[in-house]
Amino acid sequence: MLGKVVTEKLGPDEPGLERAAAILRSGGVVALPTETVYGLAARADCAEAVAKIYEAKGRPSFNPLIVHVHSLEQARTLAKFNPNSLELAADHWPGPLTLVLPRRRDATLADAIAAGLPTVALRCPAHAVMRRVIELVDAPLAAPSANRSGFVSPTTANHVLATLDGRIDAVVDGGPTAAGIESTIVAVRPDGRREVLRPGPILLGEVVAGIDGQVEAPGQLSQHYAPGKPVRLNVRDPDPDEFMIGFGAVDGVCSLSDNGDLEVAAARLYACLHDASGSSLPRIAIAPIPEDGIGRAINDRLRRAAS
Ligand code: TXA
Ligand code: MG
Repeated sequence: MLGKVVTEKLGPDEPGLERAAAILRSGGVVALPTETVYGLAARADCAEAVAKIYEAKGRPSFNPLIVHVHSLEQARTLAKFNPNSLELAADHWPGPLTLVLPRRRDATLADAIAAGLPTVALRCPAHAVMRRVIELVDAPLAAPSANRSGFVSPTTANHVLATLDGRIDAVVDGGPTAAGIESTIVAVRPDGRREVLRPGPILLGEVVAGIDGQVEAPGQLSQHYAPGKPVRLNVRDPDPDEFMIGFGAVDGVCSLSDNGDLEVAAARLYACLHDASGSSLPRIAIAPIPEDGIGRAINDRLRRAAS
């Protein structure tokens, strides 16, 4: 299939979503918008469909996938919840929070999803397109970010096509995504302990499984966010050959947010990195971003982009 398929461009209207669902039902792969980034979806209960995600992305198969569900009820067929995980789900679902939970033995999930782990990562997205498609397919959908492995995550349909055109069956264009960076991932252990594995739009405290220590979320590998050029952080005075990404009072070729709004900066982060990658300038420089609130998640992605 690779290199030979014509990637269908679908609208976010009901006929477009019905077409997307039909492709997914028959085992295809479709890129769909979520409130964080675009995801490359396939039915999570079908091994061949899940294999197509790994193939299209060129993703190492030891890297497990997030499973997207429509409701807590659907999530409970796949994982064991305890009072702590139920509380997190009640507070933040639907929304940009992924829960890593003990997998149920009777969960109908392709083996490749968990990549050998006894857990499963579940997310109930808020985006109307993703929600409607899960409902129409009537099965949970595995969906990593819709980019070739090692490239910057996509926040528009064009970003998806930049690395996956001809490698996937379709993309639904739902416009730019709102949050702009990937969901917060938190593991809830059987004893109730919470461990934040990836910082994101939902602020839940310190990251315990750091990027450099024992990495339980293997997608946390540094090159995951690489824009393909050297990146310098905390820059106020760029060199002439650097594509400068500004923030607040520090100007640039583009700015994450002129007035220093961190939520806006998160939403624009990957679009700026895509612009920087596509520019003729050989290097990228980025203004300092405060380590407050969602600034932590932005700096987490920037440190990976720079390493
Ligand atoms: O916002 C998001 O989470 C987006 C949208 C599409 O939903 N998805 C996303 O997926 O960022 P991906 O595959 O790029 O990142 C998933 C992360 C990886 O770091 C992976 O290693 C980790 O989740 N992960 C998946 N299953 C896991 C598990 N059972 N235990 C620990 N980490 C897991
Ligand atoms: Mg990714």
